[in-house]
This record gives sequence, structure tokens and C-alpha cells, in this order.
Amino acid sequence: MIKVLLLATAAMAFAVPVLAAEPLSLTPAPAKAERADGVFRLTAATRIHVAKGDVEARGVALQLADLLHRARGLRPMVVEGEPAAGEAAISLVRGGPDGEGYALDVAPGGVKITALKRAGLFYGAVSLWQLAVQDDSKGPVDVPAAKVEDAPRFAWRGFMLDSARHYQSVETIRTIIDGMAAHKLNTLHWHLVDDQAWRIEIKKYPKLTQVSGWRQPAGAAGRDPKTGKPVRYGGIYTQDQVRDLVAYAAARNITIVPEIEMPGHALAPLVAYPKLGLTPNPPALARHDWGIFPYLYNVEDGTFDFLNDVLDEVMDLFPSEYIHVGGDEAVKDQWKASPVIQAKIKELGVKDEHGLQSWFIQRVEKHINGRGRRLIGWDEILEGGLAPNATVMSWRGIDGAIAAASQGHDTVLSPEPTLYFDRRQSASLDEPPGRIIISSLKDVYQFDAAPDALTADQRKHILGVQANLWTEHVRTDERAQLMAFPRLVALAETAWTKEERRDWDGFTTRLPAEMARLKALGVAADTAPFEPQATLRPGQGGAIAASLSSGLAIGQLRYTTDGAEPTAASPAYGEALSLKAGTVLKARSFLGEQPLGRTRVWTATELAANTRESRQLELCGAAIPLMFEDDAPKNGRDGDRAVFAIDVMNPCWIWKGADLSKPLTLTARVGQAPWNFQIGAAKDQIVVRKPATPDGELEVRLGCKGERIAVIPLGKAGRGPGLGTVSGVLPVREGVHDLCLTFTAKSLDPMPALDRVSLTAGQ
Ligand code: ACM
Repeated sequence: MIKVLLLATAAMAFAVPVLAAEPLSLTPAPAKAERADGVFRLTAATRIHVAKGDVEARGVALQLADLLHRARGLRPMVVEGEPAAGEAAISLVRGGPDGEGYALDVAPGGVKITALKRAGLFYGAVSLWQLAVQDDSKGPVDVPAAKVEDAPRFAWRGFMLDSARHYQSVETIRTIIDGMAAHKLNTLHWHLVDDQAWRIEIKKYPKLTQVSGWRQPAGAAGRDPKTGKPVRYGGIYTQDQVRDLVAYAAARNITIVPEIEMPGHALAPLVAYPKLGLTPNPPALARHDWGIFPYLYNVEDGTFDFLNDVLDEVMDLFPSEYIHVGGDEAVKDQWKASPVIQAKIKELGVKDEHGLQSWFIQRVEKHINGRGRRLIGWDEILEGGLAPNATVMSWRGIDGAIAAASQGHDTVLSPEPTLYFDRRQSASLDEPPGRIIISSLKDVYQFDAAPDALTADQRKHILGVQANLWTEHVRTDERAQLMAFPRLVALAETAWTKEERRDWDGFTTRLPAEMARLKALGVAADTAPFEPQATLRPGQGGAIAASLSSGLAIGQLRYTTDGAEPTAASPAYGEALSLKAGTVLKARSFLGEQPLGRTRVWTATELAANTRESRQLELCGAAIPLMFEDDAPKNGRDGDRAVFAIDVMNPCWIWKGADLSKPLTLTARVGQAPWNFQIGAAKDQIVVRKPATPDGELEVRLGCKGERIAVIPLGKAGRGPGLGTVSGVLPVREGVHDLCLTFTAKSLDPMPALDRVSLTAGQ
């Protein structure tokens, strides 16, 4: 409150519009916005006017009517011509701001959206829709009067969806497009091809999808439990579906940029057409692995004919200015080992395999440029020399962007770690599987899109920013949406709103409205980072100590211990609670009066206080730390799968601070997951401890290098599929110790994995 008053005073003193207090809930925050007096009453009888014959404006008006219908259940009628005298209507008018810019004037007597281009009209309509949708209420609404003048900071406001590792339905991609468009994101980079699959129908090469649109999942998920027959997982996008999606996106000012990977990440096309590669029988089954595969295209003329044919069909389908050709992570072992490739390197006079990759990409660029399009690739296309007209997508930090810009090339910032949306969003147990290292909503919001490492001139080459969702660990369509949203809303503000207008605190106040908007659009958005998480620990005199926290620490955590639903009037959480065993604790986050996320519920039992999920344990290493999904359902039948926190280079967990001065029983729930990673020779560094019994053992050590105090045979629990439980007694030792938990096993694959451990008193 104090902050708002001070800012308002400052605004008056310098006679600038009242921007600072920002009463309007618009995301991304507009370039200029001023609240005016009164409201515009939007009802089912409100009409949207467009000029006679303005087909584009009419299209936008119909979209606005449709969006209002989805969120509020009312559908204004679209009519041609001026509003009648005294009619309080919405008008879409040509003029004013160019490009994606627009002006929006909301007054009690009518609403006017003004823009020169269709894109601007669309974004004006989106802003009006946002002002009309602040919560999940239905029916007529008072839209706050306001004057908005708006235009984007960056031209490329992107999201990359990996549809190769896991397939998403066309319906889900439409939903993602809806969520993007509602936040003025304008580029969907569609990763259609990788080692695991080729998803886009190519008429001239039908085996690409017939063979490589499908794979057998790793481990237990790869066999039907009833028949034992291989399971086929996958899906393809037909050219008709692609055309429909491209049009659906374009209507929402979103360009779909297709990516066809080369020369690496090419196992899928090589399985379909081995003559394009360097080995006669590329391993079809390995398509269920993750990581970096060695399989590259060869550099025969016939391979370029193939790539040109594919790109021709792709360019016929996608009118995008840019065509993405991948170029990342093409390990050169096969090229190094091939006499034919080595001869080609000599013949061309290029320096080495990187020089050959540069020649490869330049040859493809000529074809793409020949069709009037531009090539974009991951930052590895810089290695060995950048193709003359190429644009660089910087993913290994921003070094690629710096290098590209200093050579006068355009660049898009989509760096690890912050803009990699396969990372989890908080430490909550409710997060979907993915990479363990967190990239939170706040991290994304605070991403610096104008880094000091670039000079002012170099910054002019930054086309924009993009978040990437790799889907190795994103098996379902719902999870793809949860990983994308609401982080894409934060990215949208980074991409659209000028630096000086961005403000995390202001953004957070708009989050309840944002979550309501996403819900209205049917977008599944991750609420876990807003929600309380409880840590239960043994307390004094048989009580349970419960501490609450939330990933983003936005607003106030409120709780009840009498079974009632927490409300904005419930006690605010301050310090750890001391609860009688058996108490039901319910908690929810509130921002003022508004709840943010769901209510979470725990029963404070002694067992719960002495139990930790693998995701609540410390990992011994951080080489490839994942929240890795089990290959089989928890109960061996249909249903949920366990999610293990595991460093797949060093499966080892630490229980901090176990008091071993009295006998304890350790009970562990364990699973077995396929070890399906292509990491070359690094695999040989993984320690596999030899078992003493046929199914292996769980080992307990004092610290990771200390005495092995228990060896608990896994027996049946080690056989899977699904989870099994084992227990054993820990010997008494003086004092409090960190316990290091590891497994022995016959081989690396499958790898035993810890799901949950408890330490209870007695034997
Ligand atoms: C990438 O993450 N390999 C672009």
C-alpha cells in the first residue's frame, strides 16, 4: 500500500500517466496503460462492429466473441458498420499503431480497438478479453475503463514443443496455441523429428512416419502385461492436420516454425531409410532411449536430395520465414570413423568434421534460401563456420548469441537452464516428472533478455526469446501443458513488455486472474509452486512438528486443523505447528482474498513424520538428476506410476540426520526403472555394485564413504514391475548420522530405484 502511494506521488510529480499503480490486470503488461473513470458494461446484447468488407477485422471480432463465450458464456453479435447513436458497443477500427501494435480505449459509452494490421486488432481484442476475464465468474461483466497503447518489445516470442520424444494430440497443440495467443506469444517452434520419432507425414518418403512415427517404450511399458506382446507407442501428424494447425495458429498471430533435425538426432529417419546413414542396420529399438545418439546422416548427394525433398514438402506446408534445421549435438564419432566421410573432408578441403557440418548446413541453407526462406539452427551451427544467412538459436547459455551477434547474425535467446521447461517448477511433490533442477516462474520472469555481455549494437540482433519444452520425461498431454503454463505467461511478459515496465511483484498480483484465464481456455496450468507443502517431523512429547512452505512464497499460507476448508480468514501460517498425532492439516495459499492453487491435506501421523519420498531426500550426485517416471504402474496394473528422484549416473540417496542411538527399522518402497540413456563412454563410469543375492540388495552406509551398516535383500520387491517393499533393522550406533542408500544389481539396466523410505523405532 505504501509502495503504491509513493509511486503515485512520484507519478504526479513528474506528470506521467498513472502507470505505476497499474490497476489493470493485463499480462503481458502493456507499454502504456491508464485507468479511466467508470466501466463498460459488457453483456450478451453487446455488439462488435467492424467496417463493411473488412474480412480480417470481422474474423478477429468473431474470435473475440468466441473467446468471451468460452470464458463468460456470452457471445456478442458481430455486425458490419458503425454503432447506432448512443449504442454502447465494441468497434474494431483500422488506423493507428502498425505491426503488432494496437490502441484500446474502453469507456462507459463504448470500446474502440484501433490497429493498422490484423495482428494489432487481434492483440487489442486479446487485451479487451483479459480485462473482461479477471476470475472465473460468468455472464455480464463491468470492464474497467482504460486507455491502452501497446506494442511488443521483441518480434520473436516463442515456445518450442518437442513432439518427437513424446507425441501430443492435435487437440492439445491447439490448446497450447490458445494459451500462447492469449498472452501475445507469436512463435511456435515445432520439434517434429528426433532420434525417437519422425512425426510429420512426408508424401515422398512414407516410411518416415509408417516406421518411425512409432516405437516400443522402454522396460515394462514396452510389453502388454496380458499378452507379453510389444506395445507400439507414438503418433503422426498428417499433412492435412499440419495445414489445419498452421492455419489455426496463424489466425491467432502465431507462426509455426518447423524443425527438421540434421545432421544428428537422426536415428528415426535412418531406421526408416538406412541408406541415408553410415550403418546398415540402425537400432530401431534404441528409439526408446534418451540422450545423444551417435547416428548421423551421411553426406552422399542422395542424402541431400532426400533432405531437399523433405524440406520442399515442409516449406509447402509451413509459410514461416524461418525453417529450423536443428544442428545440435551431432557427435562426430561416426564421421570420424568413416573412410568415405574422411575422403570427403579431404576433397572439400574443410578442416575437420565441424568444417564438414558447416558445409552440410550451408548446402541445406542454399536450398532453403532458394525458396525465399531463412535458415535457423541451434548454436552448434556456429562450429566450423556459420552459414552466410543463418540465424542462431542460443541454447548453451548465451554464448551462441554473443558469437552470432558479433558476426552480424540474428539470434534468438533460448538458453539453458532458465528457459528449459523440462525442468521442474518447484520442489513440490506434486510437480510432474522432469529434470530436477528448478526453473521457477520467477526465474523465467527474471530472465535477462538484454544481457550486459552484449553491446548495444549486438543486442539489436536479438530477435527475441523462446522457452523450450523437451519431452523425454513428459509422457502425457496434460503434463506438457503443466510444464508450459504458467511459465509461458512469465515468458510472455519478458518477451513483450519493455524492461522498465517489468516488475515481479506487479506480475504476481495478476496471477489469480491469469490462472482463471488459463482455466477458461481449458489450459492445464501447474499450480503446485503456489501451493503449501508440509514437512512433518517427530516433535516433542509424541507431537508432530509440521512446517509449511511454498515454492514461490507468494501471498499468505493459511491453514486449519479442524478438518474445515481453509479460507482467507483462516489463521496465517507463521512458525512450525505442533500437532497432536492424527490431526488433519489443511492449507492453502491466498493472495489477499483470492486463493492461489489448491488446498493440500496431510494427516500428521508418526509414520508420516518418519517417512521421506525419494524427492525429499538428498541425491549423492548431480550429474543427470531427474524426476524419473517408473516404467510400470505403482500397483502392477493400470494407473499412476511412481516418480523417482534419481541421478542416473549415481543412483544413491541420503537421509540426513538419523538418530541411531536406539534400534530403528528401515522400510523402503523400491521400483526398477529402465536405464535407457545414450551417453557414449560416460556410461562406463557408472558404478554397478555386485549383488550377493539373486535380486540384489539395498545397502545402508554411514555417510557415502563410511561403514556399511545394513544390507537388505530385495527379493521379490526387486523383481517388479511396479513397486515392492522391503525392510530391515539398522544396528545401534552412537549419535546422529547421514545415511547413504544405494543398491546392488546384476546390471545397470534395469536400475533399482528408491521411491520412499521410513525409519521407525524398534525392530
Ligand atoms: C538442445 O537442447 N539440444 C538444443
